[in-house]
Amino acid sequence: MAVLDIVLWPDTRLTETCVQIEEVTDEIRTLAQDMLDTMYAAKGRGLAASQVGAMHRVFVMDVGWKEGKSDPLICINPMLSEIGEDRATMEEGCLSIPGVLAEVNRPSQVQLVWSSLEGARYVQSFDGFGAACVQHELDHLDGIVTLDHLSADIRVDLIAEYQAAQ
Ligand code: NI
Repeated sequence: MAVLDIVLWPDTRLTETCVQIEEVTDEIRTLAQDMLDTMYAAKGRGLAASQVGAMHRVFVMDVGWKEGKSDPLICINPMLSEIGEDRATMEEGCLSIPGVLAEVNRPSQVQLVWSSLEGARYVQSFDGFGAACVQHELDHLDGIVTLDHLSADIRVDLIAEYQAAQ
């Protein structure tokens, strides 16, 4: 078990696109386990590799663990395979932007495809908070953070709030 340092905004690694994982090596296995340890230690529900400075397409999430419904997922090369038409706005925190919540509008139902560490392919639908979490973590793999979804004036205000909180 290892708890890694979390990269904080505006570190430029958070703006970079992560690279497809061609082979699950011991390095990737260790990274994924450390990411789960790091996410739980930081009291988060999702964490993408770029948030610990590893530029691979993998994220971890466990939406319900704080409510006693733990379901840890390690998602290798995740992709959306379906996107619902309805949208919802949710307050999203981010372990790389601690202390502020951003209201982000996204599709409220998505289907995610990913590979496990063992190479099995998974397909699962998410709605509610899970849908927001999946899209939030996918965004990280493409160098996008919650702030990038906001209008210019709200973004400026939230950045000021973030900087004041550090
Ligand atoms: Ni985040």
